[in-house]
Amino acid sequence: MPLPRSVPFGFLGVPLRNLWKLQRAARVTTACWVDARPGRGMLRPALHPELDMITRRLALKTAAVAAVVSPTLIHAAPAAAPAAAPAAPTGPFRLDPLPYAADALEPFIDARTMEIHHGRHHAAYVNGLNKVVTDHADLAGKSPLELISNIAALPETARTAVRNHGGGHVNHSFFWQLLKRNGGIPPSGPLMEALVRRFGTFDGFKAEFTKASLAVFGSGWAWLSKDKAGEIGIETTANQDSPYMGGRIPLVGIDVWEHAYYLKYQNKRVDYVNAFFNVIHWEVVAEKFTKPA
Ligand SMILES: [Fe+2]
Repeated sequence: MPLPRSVPFGFLGVPLRNLWKLQRAARVTTACWVDARPGRGMLRPALHPELDMITRRLALKTAAVAAVVSPTLIHAAPAAAPAAAPAAPTGPFRLDPLPYAADALEPFIDARTMEIHHGRHHAAYVNGLNKVVTDHADLAGKSPLELISNIAALPETARTAVRNHGGGHVNHSFFWQLLKRNGGIPPSGPLMEALVRRFGTFDGFKAEFTKASLAVFGSGWAWLSKDKAGEIGIETTANQDSPYMGGRIPLVGIDVWEHAYYLKYQNKRVDYVNAFFNVIHWEVVAEKFTKPA
């Protein structure tokens, strides 16, 4: 027997007194679908993004019901992407999957933040960069790093968009690779020697890096970077600017846009920065440090 294309709310056991909340939020009647993948048992709207505003209590209730619904119902879902998520990037620039599960960095960076940060914000930068090259086909053959490393050489009509979207793509691709579960074990060897030479101690580096991270006004990044001679230093950039734009090579970078931490830490950026040190993949940083510029 063919599966129904949508599932009536009553079938899912949502109390009748709460139906109006779903209907008002989703602006639909029966055009919802059940995401029964592990950990994602939720009603999702087919047509309107406001379902994300459903109360947590109601979402949990529907999740419990979804857990017993056959996973084959997923195939009855409409083809549209989940609400508020941008369409998957199409074009020369692609969004690579996270190199670990979204919850791998818990409890320091929560899974929901990772899902939104990667699947929506990073995806939007990739989409934005692809849009730029639809109007400037000659740029499509260049790598994102090539594009942002020489912004001044770009056509003026593409410059700002490449700076923002290309910078966002490069910075976030860097960021995911920089992190790991059970990270934070201080480096040794030449990198540690350089840190001690520059900052006195490893804790001295952390203190300076934290200070710089908190000093970013508004949205931006704080970095440990090196120049072409291998000299390390701390810098900050606004928006999605990158050390590459100034001829320096990023080694450690923390995204201090609120989208990177607000769900878990709200306005306490310092708590996010302190947590960040627990997930730094220092082996990756050491490789970047020793790699010739
Ligand atoms: Fe970000």
